[in-house]
Amino acid sequence: MSPWFWICFSSLLQFAYSEKRNFQIVIDEIKMRNIDPEVFEKLDCDLWQVNNRSYYNSSQVFKNPVNDFSVHAILDFWKPNSKKIQIYDGTFDMCYFLENVQTNRLFKIYAKGVKKHSSVIFKCPFEPNVDYALNNMSFDEEDFPKFIPLGKFRCTLEYLINKQLSARAFVTGKVIAR
Ligand SMILES: *[C@@H]1O[C@H](CO)[C@@H](O)[C@H](O)[C@H]1NC(C)=O
Ligand SMILES: *[C@@H]1O[C@H](CO)[C@@H](O)[C@H](O)[C@H]1NC(C)=O
Ligand SMILES: *[C@@H]1O[C@H](CO)[C@@H](O)[C@H](O)[C@H]1NC(C)=O
Repeated sequence: MSPWFWICFSSLLQFAYSEKRNFQIVIDEIKMRNIDPEVFEKLDCDLWQVNNRSYYNSSQVFKNPVNDFSVHAILDFWKPNSKKIQIYDGTFDMCYFLENVQTNRLFKIYAKGVKKHSSVIFKCPFEPNVDYALNNMSFDEEDFPKFIPLGKFRCTLEYLINKQLSARAFVTGKVIAR
């Protein structure tokens, strides 16, 4: 697993209009599917909960250097008693994103989290046989803006390496009041 599904949460924020910041982001499940074993030597993610807070460790090892990495992200959201809303459907160029994290407030939050929880630098080209791992990652709600809607979400991520679909991640969870 990788931190990329953070993209989904950042897009949540653009949709934000709830009342107060007393919310918590809970991840119920993360499923990873390694589609192209020629690309990923290893790709996994462990999720656990402590005191209603979600933590995860993720690990990602490439077989070859990677310099062309995009993520197609889809974020669906359900507010209580309402139909599915598609909040985001877009493709991110990860190499560009990682090089330009300083240009955007949301990107900076992401970069801060990764730096704190990883011992390697996430940037292109990704080196082969290096574990791009994140340990003990969680979401610090204080890093998020005050307004975020409550409800359930599902995030689907497609990893496109050299423009080929190489892996998929499914993340489900909820934004609850605390
Ligand atoms: C966790 O959430 C449940 C349900 O919202 C609540 O009853 C419980 O008190 C919470 N536990 C902690 C440690 O916050
Ligand atoms: C997560 O990583 C930390 C640090 O490497 C380790 O101590 C912990 O056991 C791991 N937890 C899980 C659930 O894999
Ligand atoms: C993970 O983070 C939590 C809260 O930040 C901390 O209490 C715990 O000791 C950390 N665990 C590891 C293995 O670093």
